[in-house]
This record gives sequence, C-alpha cells and structure tokens, in this order.
Amino acid sequence: MHKRRFCLLAACCFLFFKIDAQQSTVDSTDKKVKALLVKMTLEEKIGQLNQYSNDIKVTGPITVYDSKLEDIAKGKVGSMLNVSGAIATREMQKVAMKSRLKIPLLFGLDVIHGYRVTFPIPLAEAASWDMDAIERSARIAATEASASGVHWTFAPMVDIARDPRWGRVMEGAGEDPYLGSLIATARVKGFQGKGLGNLDAVMACAKHFAAYGAAIGGRDYNSVDMSLHTLWQVYLPPFKAAAAAGAATFMNSFNDLNGIPATGNRYLQRDILKGKWGFKGFVVSDWGSVGEMIPHGYAADKYEAAEAAITAGSDMDMESRAYTENLKKLVEDGKVNEALIDDAVYRILYKKFELGLFDDPYRFSDEQREKQVLDKPEHQEAARDMGRKSIVLLKNQHSLLPVSSSVKSIALIGPLVKAEKDMKGFWSIDWGKDERPVSLFEGIKQQAGRIKINFAKGCNINDSSKAGFAEAIKLARSSDLVIIAAGETADMSGEAKSRANIHLPGVQEDLIKAIHATGKPVVVILMAGRPLVFNWTAEHVPSILYTWWLGSQAGNSIADVLFGKYNPSGKLPISFPRSEGQIPVYYNYLNTGRPGPEEEAGGYNTGYIDMPRLPQYVFGHGLSYTTFEYKDLTVSKSQLMTGDAAEISFVLTNTGKVSGEEVAQLYLRDVVAQPIRPVKELKDFQKVFLKPGESKKITFKIDREKLSFYDSELNWIAQPGKFDIYIGSSSKDIRLQGNLYLQQ
Ligand code: GLC
Repeated sequence: MHKRRFCLLAACCFLFFKIDAQQSTVDSTDKKVKALLVKMTLEEKIGQLNQYSNDIKVTGPITVYDSKLEDIAKGKVGSMLNVSGAIATREMQKVAMKSRLKIPLLFGLDVIHGYRVTFPIPLAEAASWDMDAIERSARIAATEASASGVHWTFAPMVDIARDPRWGRVMEGAGEDPYLGSLIATARVKGFQGKGLGNLDAVMACAKHFAAYGAAIGGRDYNSVDMSLHTLWQVYLPPFKAAAAAGAATFMNSFNDLNGIPATGNRYLQRDILKGKWGFKGFVVSDWGSVGEMIPHGYAADKYEAAEAAITAGSDMDMESRAYTENLKKLVEDGKVNEALIDDAVYRILYKKFELGLFDDPYRFSDEQREKQVLDKPEHQEAARDMGRKSIVLLKNQHSLLPVSSSVKSIALIGPLVKAEKDMKGFWSIDWGKDERPVSLFEGIKQQAGRIKINFAKGCNINDSSKAGFAEAIKLARSSDLVIIAAGETADMSGEAKSRANIHLPGVQEDLIKAIHATGKPVVVILMAGRPLVFNWTAEHVPSILYTWWLGSQAGNSIADVLFGKYNPSGKLPISFPRSEGQIPVYYNYLNTGRPGPEEEAGGYNTGYIDMPRLPQYVFGHGLSYTTFEYKDLTVSKSQLMTGDAAEISFVLTNTGKVSGEEVAQLYLRDVVAQPIRPVKELKDFQKVFLKPGESKKITFKIDREKLSFYDSELNWIAQPGKFDIYIGSSSKDIRLQGNLYLQQ
C-alpha cells in the first residue's frame, strides 16, 4: 500500500513539475517576444508578415521580383517558401542576419507526402485506416525535411471532400469527419514529433481553412455555399482536431464561404479558430489569396484587401505583397490598429523562438546532418510498407489474386506499367536528386521468379489511338494471366486539376474490354489521385486493385500484394460514383421522406430513373485474400443515462486460409432527431490482424460525446432517443446490428 501511495505521489509531483516547467518556458518565451517587439519599427513588424516564394520551385502564379534578397536584408521578409536544402537555406538565412534586428527567416515547403522519399498520396494513406503508419509517414517526412533546412510544412491538408471532380481530393483524407479528424491528428503529431525546438520537428499547417473541398461543381477555387450547421458538423471537425493536436499554424483557403473569402473571414479566423478554439499559432494566407479578394469582388484594391485580411486574422501574407505595400499606410490612416499587427507579429516571432532560431538561425541548415538523414534505407522500407497498406482490393472473383503458383507467364499491359514519375503523384518534391520511383514493371520483375513476364503498352493514357491493341491482344492470348495497369497521369489530379469527366481517360477501358474478350483471366490495377468511373471494368473484370499513387516504392508495394507477400487491407476513405451525375455522393447522407432502395432506379423515391443512387464502391469498402466473420454482438448497457457509457462488443474471426487485417467499422444512426441525422455515421473502427482461424473480441466504447451533434443553433448536444448500431466491413456490408437508447 505504501509503495502504491509513493508511486502516486511521485507521479503527481512529476506531473506538477512538468506542467510547471512548461509554463515557465511559455513565460520566458513570452518575455523574449515582447522584449523584441518593443524594439521593432512598424516597417520591421510588417516585414514579419510578408512571405515570398523562391523563384525556382514555384507552386502558384509567381510575381518575378528581383529585390527579394534586398528586402530580406532590410528585414522586410519574415518567411520564404520553396527554399530547401542545408546550403540554400543557410545562404538565405545569412542574408536575413544582415537586417538590423537579425530576425531569422522561416522556411516553409509543401512536404505533403514525403520529402526525399515520396510516400503514397494522402488519400492513399487514408485508405490504410492505420494511424500509426500515417503518423510514421509524416514523422519520416519531417525528419528528412528538417535536415534540409525546412522549418514548416504546409500540411496536413484536412479538407473534407465529397466531390472527386475536385483535383485536390488526392491531398486529403476523403469524405468522413471522424476518419479525417483522426488522420489530421496523426499527421500533426507526425510532423511536430516531440515538439518544436527538436531538430527533427517541423511546424505543421492545417489547411485550407475552411471548407475548400466543398467548391461548387468540384471546380478548384470555386465558391462554397453551405449552412453553418454543415460547416460545423462535417467540414470543421478535422481542423478542430488539428488545433487540439497542437498544429503550429493554419492556412486559410482560396474559396469564399457564403460570399466572404476565407482569407478575409473574421468568423472563421477570429471567432472560431483564435476565439472558440483558443488557437495560439499563426495563420498564413494561401498563395496570393489576400490580393485575390480583389477578383473575388470583396476588395476594390490591395489596400482594402490588406485591411480585410489583417482585420479578419490572416497573420502572414503569402506572395500577394498586399501587406508589405499597404499596412503602413493603413495604420497611418487609422484604418488598422497597430495592435492587430503586433498580435500577428507576436504569433510569428513566438514560433521562431520555439524553433530555436534566435539561439541559432542555422541549426536546421547542417550539411553533415542532411547527408546522414537523407536516403536512409529504412525510409524507403517505410514507404513500401505504407504503400502496401494503402492498396484497396475492390474485387477478387474466383480468388484470382494473389497470383497462383500455376501461372507460368504474365502479360503486363497498359500505359502505366512502366510509368515512373507518375508513381509519385501530385505535390511530390523533386529536390535535386532525380529519384526514379520503382515502376510496376520493375516491382513485378523483381518478384516474378520463374514466371515469364512480357509487356505491351496497348494504348496511351489520354488519346484515341488503338494502334497498340493488336499487339496487346496477341500477347494476352499467349499468356496465363493478364495484368492491366490503367488510370490517370499524376498531373490529372492535384491543385487546379479538376475534371468534369472522371472516367478512365482515353481508350483505356476499350483496351480492357478487348483484352477481356480474349477470355484470359484479367487483373486490372487502377492508378489515380481520385476516384474514377470505370463501370464496365467494375462489372466484368474479376479482380481490381486500386493503388492510387504510392510514391517511391510503388512497384514493390503493388508486387507485394499481387504475389501475396502482403494481404491487402485498405478500405476506401471516399465513395466511388457510378457517374459524375451522382456527385456529390457520400455514405453519411440524410434519409429523405422517400428514400427507396439505393440499389434500384426509378419509382417515387429519391433515386434516378437511369441508374441506382448507390455508388459503384461505398465508403469503407475493401476486400482481403481471406474472409472474416462477425458474431456475438453484445451491448453492455442499452439504456444510457447522463454520464453513462456503453460497451459494444463482438467476436471477429478469420475464417479463411491466410492471415490478414480487417478494419471493423462501427456506425451509429440517431433515428429521430432535430435536425435530422444521417442514415449512419462512422463512430469508431479497429484494424485487427488475425491468423487463419483466430478470433478476437472487439469492443467499442460509446459515451454521450459519440452520440452528440450540432443542433440548428450550433449547440453541441445529444438528444434522448433510439440509436441504431451497425457493425461491418464497410458502410454497406453490415454484419451485425443492434441498438441503444439515450434516456436523457
Ligand atoms: C498553393 C496551395 C497551398 C500551398 C501553397 C504554397 O497554392 O493552395 O496548399 O501550400 O500554395 O505552395
């Protein structure tokens, strides 16, 4: 007993001193920032709010301006983006040290899915539903980038997206607020590691605040028009999670929200982010978005745009120059209170102190450390593992996969079989070393052993020529198995890459039909940064893998799955529409007064007359080389009173012949509520590894928080009533059902 008491006391003391130590650090940094702030002229303060891009690697419409280095030397620049490398950052930092107060620059970069080693695109990583793996991916990216002088990544992008026409769907975590919030947290933790100031930590940046993924028509940069209820219920949760995880910065978005550009949106940036959520970091605009309030029609000129943005809480101006050109006059004209500028400067300087840049401005620009950290084999292995886990097996009739030992020859056909650069996807960084990702062809060749491998391209990705069909058909006829690799090019998704038509481009599906007509067994591998429409293939081809863009190790990751070294475990983080006409299509929809069967067309219901409203593949869908049984559902307490929690348990069994992982998903439906609630919402999941025949009891805990939602007045409440419980292998493949009641 004494021992226990002693341990408890020791733990409390430790905790007290830890908190005390943290507070004293906060106090001392606060003092340092304030001591510097009082020395600064208005021009120097405005300089800290100004960010330029490097002219070499640009990620937006660049304004070529020759005096950037002069401005840096005069203390008129607080941050640079698109500069990286120990040498380049050190040289540029030296210029900043010429300024009167020697305030170091922040170097920001879009390290979205890897720095030197490219990991799968974020939407692919989301398909892994593996938070540890996702955090590790971000951790490695941060380790590499910080060794190359980068202080700040413009990630994670946490925009919920229900419209695959939007090219940036590739950059996020799909359509679900719960999954998106967990992934936002994992990525912020991965990037920031043990905290700012550690040499392998970079500042995270939750973006794009907010609701950028709901652009009308899926057109990038387009308007967003939604109720505040939908904003809070669907689009804000991942941002709230990122803030709670300690994201150092936020980036606002290009879109207007209900007629007010996010960059000039006080409600978003001051009322919600800095107010309700108590965010202490700083907000950077998106590329030129301060100045873009002029074409938005929200400001007549940069003077008005700068006033709107700084007033609304946009602390740093990326590349528009509105701040550096107008803020001084705005203060002199009495339009902007200097206190607003002081607050923005305080937030930015605070991060520079936290990063240790005032102690040593060059601490991240160490060539030796850069050489030691980059090109580590274990980083490549981690990318290969993340790639395997991101692959989704959409279909596998007659267990055509994994490749049977009886197969003696494989025909590799299609325009993406030998593709290399495309494997990296959009937002991949090619910093100097012209890294060649592992193509599908190479990956298969390395593992094929005695199997004869032949290749025919068959067609291009996006033109109408069928000249290659004959050769491909001939090769298919002479092979035991055909593997077709089709999809988009990597630059058909990403920023400013919206597509009105998201079918397989060119004549690729005609090629698939022609090869299928040979009667040979066909596996189709689809590579893209978004869901595509490929209905004929979905209905006729026996085995389909969706491999997104898997990065540096793509070919090896896919070959690991094809040859059964890894049993696919991915689950779709976003619905796959049957047609662009179904968009927006998502699983957590409202039932309507005439729901009707989602599998059927026609009738007096909310479907279409020309196709079912059910998507081609639903949220949470993904198959395995084994099978899983769900049984023995129990609900520990079906009547919940205030403060109660229920445990929902069941037994999951691997009923197949090979080991595998299953993502068991828990959905709830609040059957009667005001306002009405979706037909189901993801509330928990567990990814479980089971050997053949092995069983495991899975338990989910449901408390009032999981039953709560925003009412029409945006109060976070739970309403008494019945909740349906759905447990399944996808949002549609429900294996167990039950219910519970909230009494009050
Ligand atoms: C781009 C993107 C943003 C990115 C920034 C800097 O326009 O919208 O996500 O971080 O500019 O490259």
